Amino acid sequence: MIYQVYVRSFADSDGDGVGDLPGVRSRLPYIAALGADAIWLNPFYPSPQADAGYDVSDYRDVDPRFGTLADFDGLVADAHAAGLRVIVDLVPNHTSSQHPWFQAALASPRGSRERSRYLFREGRGPDGSEPPNNWLSVFGGPAWTRVPDGQWYLNLFDSAQPDLDWTSEEVRAEFDSILRFWLDRGADGFRIDVAHGLAKDPALPDISSDYVAAGPAGVGHPHWDQDEVHEVYRRWRRIADSYPGERAFVGEVWVHTTEQLARYLRPDELQTAFNFNLLLAPWDAAAMRDAIDASIGALTPVGAAPTWVLSNHDVTRHVTRYGGGEAGIHRARAAALMVFALPGGAYVYQGEELGLEEVLDLPDALRQDPTFRRTAGAEIGRDGCRVPIPWSGDAPPFGFGPGSGEPWLPQPAHWKDLTAEREAADPDSMLALYRAALALRRESPALGDGTLTWLDSPPGVLTFRRSADFTCVVNLSADPVPISGEILLSSGPIPGTELPPDTAAWLAT
Ligand code: NOJ
Repeated sequence: MIYQVYVRSFADSDGDGVGDLPGVRSRLPYIAALGADAIWLNPFYPSPQADAGYDVSDYRDVDPRFGTLADFDGLVADAHAAGLRVIVDLVPNHTSSQHPWFQAALASPRGSRERSRYLFREGRGPDGSEPPNNWLSVFGGPAWTRVPDGQWYLNLFDSAQPDLDWTSEEVRAEFDSILRFWLDRGADGFRIDVAHGLAKDPALPDISSDYVAAGPAGVGHPHWDQDEVHEVYRRWRRIADSYPGERAFVGEVWVHTTEQLARYLRPDELQTAFNFNLLLAPWDAAAMRDAIDASIGALTPVGAAPTWVLSNHDVTRHVTRYGGGEAGIHRARAAALMVFALPGGAYVYQGEELGLEEVLDLPDALRQDPTFRRTAGAEIGRDGCRVPIPWSGDAPPFGFGPGSGEPWLPQPAHWKDLTAEREAADPDSMLALYRAALALRRESPALGDGTLTWLDSPPGVLTFRRSADFTCVVNLSADPVPISGEILLSSGPIPGTELPPDTAAWLAT
């Protein structure tokens, strides 16, 4: 289990309202006690924070908001001592517009070496005042920004995040060196941001209406999932393999099919990639089963282990996606038992173990996600899943930071019932369920590597066996279903021998 730490919202050591690395370090015992094997840290590098740190201006340092390199080293040492590996976030598709390379590009003429590290092009139309092609930013608006001398540069995300040109050997060499920098400091692996986006069709053609209909990562799309990205991952794999111990990658790969995903996981490329099928699936047995089967089916031939994700810092928290309120909580509890019974790696996004829901009513003035601004509020953005964690006490900031300092986003008052402190003392809490499930998962041989076998079950019910004596049943239907066997763990009370709706159980059979 890999625990995702969204650094700015996890724990604030100095009271400035923003989480930091010393804060993470102080909470490592909590993460270890939860049953994690590793942590993934979202970007903590120097950054203007135009996209919450996914706009990096220096790839080899720590932003003063988040601490120092010495804090990082201390965090790694403590994590390793606690048996936790550390995965850092690598942002190779784009830099910050404040990165020295981009500043140099702006100060240099068209055709210069400085501009060749990015994708500068002439515009269209008689005076070049139209963008070079019709590509759109993921965050809304055109994917091109014009500079004073009339050229345009590509930004698939915010204009403060210019895309690098991965055909440039200088760019490739720089990232080799960045990888080595963090591997030398003890990082156990990298989460690769926008791993499907680095290579672009060199002709930069317009996206045809067919591709638009096929969605953001349709096969043959000119800037997603180009074949050339695979060269980059083979190169990185050789670097990681040259280090002692086990160093691993997890790619953020948004593609349409699991066959496309599997190509990133060939034996000489990445070991793992996020598989977002489950995260995109509604609370529906057939959809969940399809997502699970598709992932396992596509990854088995390349020998890669699946990964399962229900929530992260980019999507609405799953308690809310599954309907919110009591139903959302019950379903999220059942989903946790389902995911922790599946073969492969499970990612837990900070706060899901407390049952946090999406915060929907943040004041617009406090929203920081560039999506909100770039779509003039039409898209509310991702701030609602990034609200700081409630640790303890009865009033904000709930122990997030020292004193009563305001966290960067306000926490709902009712989170007093969802603090880690309160849940740790309640055997029926989401936290207690996560701890129990992860402890069993760790000690049960049936829940290690391997595969699963589906058993016949009534409509709306998922039943799978991991070994002759371990079965997981998830009831996504509206009716109770009979179960048999010794109940090892369940996501809710089981009266008699019937599993209620929105409930899962682990059975010794
Ligand atoms: C994916 C990251 O998870 C997201 O938070 C970020 O905005 C984009 N990549 C751009 O870097």
